[in-house]
Amino acid sequence: MPDHGGESIDARTPRSPIWNQLEGLKGEELAAWRLADVPDRPSADDRNLQDEYPFGWFGIGYSDELAVGEVKSIRYFGKDLALWRGVDGKARVIDAYCAHYGANMAHGGKVHENTLECPFHAWRYNELGAVTEIPYSPSIPPQAKRKDCVPSWPTEEANGFIYIWYHPDKVAPLWECQKIEEALLPDWTPYRKYEWNVYSSLENVADNGVDFAHFRYVHGTVHVPTYELKFEGRSRSVIASAKLGTPKGEVEAKISSYNYGPGQGYVRFTGLLDTLLVPCVTPVDRDHVKAFYAFTQPKAAAEGPMAGLGRALVKDITKQFDQDKVILDRHRRMDPPLVCQGDGPFARNKIYYSQFYTNREPAPAQAAE
Ligand code: FES
Ligand SMILES: [Fe+2]
Repeated sequence: MPDHGGESIDARTPRSPIWNQLEGLKGEELAAWRLADVPDRPSADDRNLQDEYPFGWFGIGYSDELAVGEVKSIRYFGKDLALWRGVDGKARVIDAYCAHYGANMAHGGKVHENTLECPFHAWRYNELGAVTEIPYSPSIPPQAKRKDCVPSWPTEEANGFIYIWYHPDKVAPLWECQKIEEALLPDWTPYRKYEWNVYSSLENVADNGVDFAHFRYVHGTVHVPTYELKFEGRSRSVIASAKLGTPKGEVEAKISSYNYGPGQGYVRFTGLLDTLLVPCVTPVDRDHVKAFYAFTQPKAAAEGPMAGLGRALVKDITKQFDQDKVILDRHRRMDPPLVCQGDGPFARNKIYYSQFYTNREPAPAQAAE
């Protein structure tokens, strides 16, 4: 950086081609772009995307967007699913297709007490995917009474989200759904919510968090951030210190991100105004993830004198994910990538990640960087 004698200067990096692609997208148009299909993308095979989803707990939507008695059609992990909330207030998820005659129960199905009633012939399913009642028949076929007659999905609610447990072999949850203590505190603002469809695999999105070199070129941080990285069992934490280029010069910011398993975690931004981001990024199909970003800030600051800064900060973080999306929507996975000194610890991250797949050999420890 040139020396300007300490006076305040515009420290923003020059516009990159990616920023130019996003230029002019604002408000509703930007929100629509975040969710729109990218129909001309190459196939998942052409892009060498992973052919298995990692297992764990994954957010599939917000608790306050599913009312008692409501049924929703959702799609995750390559499956059409039915999500409903029983009269007892509990959210439940089973595969959408009825074992009887194959109706999609998320379309026209209704909640009967705590069960999901199929719209075709009114068979009723509990959260274990077992038929509990067939109103027009005196008996239930034995096979229909069994658990997972229609495959069921362990479902929990925490942090304002509904989470499901995914495992390719339908193994029961191997750890508990994580609660984030800082989420939904009464003196912090209600979530500000953002959503994206990103046409890539979850692991590629996760790699982005340890790709330290891209921060400068894609996101416009003034320098490549310094970072501390810790892998411990199922958790990964990254504490990055970055100088953010603002119109008024460089600002030091700290970004602490924590993951437990491939689907849960949080990111805490400090330095300007405390901001907690609860991201849920969940596979929909092999080349498609759904990302939910929920932001909260201390009310005293965000609803008071620092309201403008609070909004600007959230806008900047969402803009960063927009920038990532431009790359990720069309990027091809290099396995292994051709790396150089100065790159993030991709290989170490891959070792961490491999524990969440059933079809990968645990990588040798000495491969760690
Ligand atoms: S198809 Fe669902 S009850 Fe017949
Ligand atoms: Fe990024």
